[in-house]
Amino acid sequence: MIMQGKKGLIVGVANKMSIAYGIAAACKNQGADMAFTFLNDAIKKRVEPIANELGSDKIYELDVNNDEHLNALAPQIERDFGKIDFVLHAVAFAPKQALENDFINTTKDAFNVAMETSVYSLVSLTRAVLPTLSKDASILTLSYLGGAKYVPHYNVMGVAKAALESCVRYLARDLGASGVRVNAISAGPIKTLAASGIGDFKMILRYNEINAPLKRNMSIEDIGKSGAYLLSDLASGVTGEIHYVDGGYNILGMADVGLDDDGKTALLWDLQK
Ligand SMILES: NC(=O)c1ccc[n+]([C@@H]2O[C@H](COP(=O)([O-])OP(=O)(O)OC[C@H]3O[C@@H](n4cnc5c(N)ncnc54)[C@H](O)[C@@H]3O)[C@@H](O)[C@H]2O)c1
Repeated sequence: MIMQGKKGLIVGVANKMSIAYGIAAACKNQGADMAFTFLNDAIKKRVEPIANELGSDKIYELDVNNDEHLNALAPQIERDFGKIDFVLHAVAFAPKQALENDFINTTKDAFNVAMETSVYSLVSLTRAVLPTLSKDASILTLSYLGGAKYVPHYNVMGVAKAALESCVRYLARDLGASGVRVNAISAGPIKTLAASGIGDFKMILRYNEINAPLKRNMSIEDIGKSGAYLLSDLASGVTGEIHYVDGGYNILGMADVGLDDDGKTALLWDLQK
């Protein structure tokens, strides 16, 4: 078991569809012991049983935009664990209207909210837990292709993911000398609470499914297994990396498959016949 004896903090479980749940379950399967955070009381009700299922009674309140919560983290971790070996940051938020209309109409408020909650939080969380990190600890965050390329409706969240991926590289440099690694998984689209805010998300899922080289969408188990690898010592030489776990979708320069007049899928060149 690659995470036997490892202790970690999981930020971003909302329910059992969350990518953070998939990664935490994979870490548990590999022997890890974890603490979990919850955003508010409504989410606490869902996180508590999930933590219990994964063998933990350690849950802390954390709104990443709340300095008091961030300052309380290190003492709580020290009390419960001493040092920890890994941290998962699986947090993102942008106002729904910013993910439906044209990007050019993004308001300053929506832009700032997306950047604060989805990007700066990686920096502030990392700084908050730094005193409790063991030597050679691993930090992981979640990105999406919309940060590197245009994806319909992803809008301000694409800009946020581009900035998040840059933060991964700058943090990897800052913490590298102390042995701490910082990486991101760029996950293929998955139906979760956060994804439900993105316009036409069903179409995005379908398009990925029919065009990705593996011809299927990713599950939280797929992301979980790769997450456990990056959080474990098996990835001891990997830092500052954006690792795609998307069935290969990101390698495409052009899609194979489109929709015919009846809405059925067909190879693009067959649509001409
Ligand atoms: N679902 C996808 O298709 C997909 C693809 C690639 C990347 N991601 C990324 O994966 C990460 C996890 O999202 P998910 O899809 O599992 O959805 P999710 O809704 O299950 O998780 C998002 C989490 O962010 C938390 N959160 C939001 N605002 C917060 C705040 N102020 N403080 C603390 N926590 C806060 C929510 O409580 C929730 O637990 C996000 O960064 C998301 O952008 C998702």
